[in-house]
Amino acid sequence: MIHEEANQLPDILKEKSPQDDELNFSLRPGRMSEYIGQQNIVETLNIAIEAALQRKESLDHVLFNGPPGLGKTTLAHIIANEMGTKIITSSGPALEKGGDLMGILTHLEKGDILFIDEIHRLPKIVEEFLYPAMEDFAVDFIFDKGVHARTHRYRLEPFTLIGATTRSGLLSSPLRERFGITRDLDFYDESDLILIVKRSASILDIPIDPDGVYEIARRARGTPRVANRLLKRVRDYAQVRAQGKITLSVAGEALALEGIDESGLGGTDRKLLRTIILNYKGGPAGIEALASTLQIETDVLIDVVEPYLLKTGFVIRTSQGRKATEKAFSHLAISHKREISLFEGSKGKRDS
Ligand SMILES: Nc1ncnc2c1ncn2[C@@H]1O[C@H](COP(=O)(O)OP(=O)(O)OP(=O)(O)O)[C@@H](O)[C@H]1O
Ligand SMILES: [Mg+2]
Repeated sequence: MIHEEANQLPDILKEKSPQDDELNFSLRPGRMSEYIGQQNIVETLNIAIEAALQRKESLDHVLFNGPPGLGKTTLAHIIANEMGTKIITSSGPALEKGGDLMGILTHLEKGDILFIDEIHRLPKIVEEFLYPAMEDFAVDFIFDKGVHARTHRYRLEPFTLIGATTRSGLLSSPLRERFGITRDLDFYDESDLILIVKRSASILDIPIDPDGVYEIARRARGTPRVANRLLKRVRDYAQVRAQGKITLSVAGEALALEGIDESGLGGTDRKLLRTIILNYKGGPAGIEALASTLQIETDVLIDVVEPYLLKTGFVIRTSQGRKATEKAFSHLAISHKREISLFEGSKGKRDS
């Protein structure tokens, strides 16, 4: 049985949950060799890192783009480990004023890594300080105003900026062009998620059989963070209800209790599909309209909820808005006409 539809975003999709610190600390791979999947990106980075180390230079600036929980932050930390340098972390919304960024930049040591998460949310005035910093390793201080304005160029140590974003489309092109390496992270396939669940189970010392691993991996929305969280939920269930061992049936029961269905969709996913199908006759429906019907922020819908539904073909994006596919209709076991006519019928009755 699937529990339906909490109004707010389920924990599993949220970026931070209280248990995250523990999870991240113990499960986050620390070296490139432990990082599972995304082979092309790993290969590119390994080459760039080795070349930079040989030349004793700082690594080119790197931009990672992709949905939440796919490993952008993890990669930034791994790069710092592999380069043997410090990593200083900040985020777009935290850097409100130019001065905030200046303070960080002027304290960087040679080869340090500056990681800016959600870099698309950097205010424009702060972003402009980054251009000379990235290009020439310099920042321009401006004294006085108007005709008396003078600038003083301050040299920085060579550093590497690593930016992470869920929406590179929102980055201004001058900023985007200043990254030497730009990579899109994609959802993980089942075989990689199997390795991730196995690895996490072994680190956390959780007894689990191969079918249990597979069941969690295939329902993890293609996302390592989700896989790790599901594993923990299933572990709790197994401990309380099933002598501690995770098997196929234990995983299945625990995930159903979490509202995660056979395709790995959660309550919010199904609610979105149902809204497009029932309220908008299958679409197209504008994203703003969907967001307000669902009472979810538009950005969350775009960044967190819909990428997986697009990727797996439950939803398509057209110039008029989002449409539910046949796959979505059959997933929700709604036969087009019957349900819609029933729905319209009941609406008619209510309205009259
Ligand atoms: N390739 C991987 N191999 C093993 N574990 C991974 C991998 N990528 C991510 N993880 C796990 O998933 C968790 C989430 O990854 P991470 O925090 O790097 O995601 P993110 O892309 O930065 O997400 P956000 O956009 O929400 O910040 C990590 O703590 C780590 O345990
Ligand atoms: Mg992150």
